[in-house]
Amino acid sequence: MSSKIMVEANKLTKHFERKIALSSLSFSIQQGELVALIGPSGAGKTTLLNSIAGLVPLTSGELLIDGQPLSAYKKGKVFAKKMGVIRQQFDLIGPLAVIHNVLAGKLSDWGMIKSLISLLIPQEKTLAIQALERVGLNGKAYEITSNLSGGEQQRVAMARLMVQNPEIILADEPVASLDPARADDILAMLTNIVKEKKQTLITSLHSVDYAKKYFTRIISMRNGEVFFDLPTEEVTDDLLAELYHLKNGER
Ligand SMILES: Nc1ncnc2c1ncn2[C@@H]1O[C@H](COP(=O)(O)OP(=O)(O)OP(=O)(O)O)[C@@H](O)[C@H]1O
Ligand SMILES: [Mg+2]
Repeated sequence: MSSKIMVEANKLTKHFERKIALSSLSFSIQQGELVALIGPSGAGKTTLLNSIAGLVPLTSGELLIDGQPLSAYKKGKVFAKKMGVIRQQFDLIGPLAVIHNVLAGKLSDWGMIKSLISLLIPQEKTLAIQALERVGLNGKAYEITSNLSGGEQQRVAMARLMVQNPEIILADEPVASLDPARADDILAMLTNIVKEKKQTLITSLHSVDYAKKYFTRIISMRNGEVFFDLPTEEVTDDLLAELYHLKNGER
């Protein structure tokens, strides 16, 4: 495997007024790693993912994305090739046909005019249809997105990500709103695609079982700090019990 470092975090700190959400967090993630971020509610998982995505400014610390400071990337085309995000609520445009949502993955490549035209005449249809087939949505390209089930909409979001084809994928609890069978399905598909394309995946999860089943490395967080950072096979039940254990007086 290549040893290119895709995400390097040096002493990341984030304060929200008095609240410390990230406290001097450091780690580095290599190309091709499948990283699960776990930890109790409020540990700072979302804040960390949002910082890496450039959505939340850090209080202090440094983030290098593929060797360059995050601040050196201009938003738009270059950054969209580098990094893609999947959210729990998918950010799809409900009233549009599925294919238009999938092609939105090309937005930053195409510029506004072509993107708007694509709302009428789907450009690069084949690309979108192939991505939809890959996620098991054959024949759904022209359905109205909001008529699809939650699991199907998450697949549309994945097809869009395939069209965007970024090097790093960040996902914040991507299966939290799905039933266990569908969640399993989506994670299997996501991790397979990421492996095929040698992308790097960082996903927060509430399910330790999914983290162990699909990810090669687990970074656990507690109170804005890294609690442990280990290859999945080295994560023990004792460590997990300690991670989720409530301290005296904490609720
Ligand atoms: N915009 C904000 N303003 C103030 N405090 C915030 C803000 N966003 C997050 N926090 C605080 O920062 C801490 C970390 O929150 P974060 O959402 O990152 O946790 P999390 O690990 O994602 O939790 P969960 O598992 O519940 O999603 C929490 O104490 C939270 O209340
Ligand atoms: Mg969160």
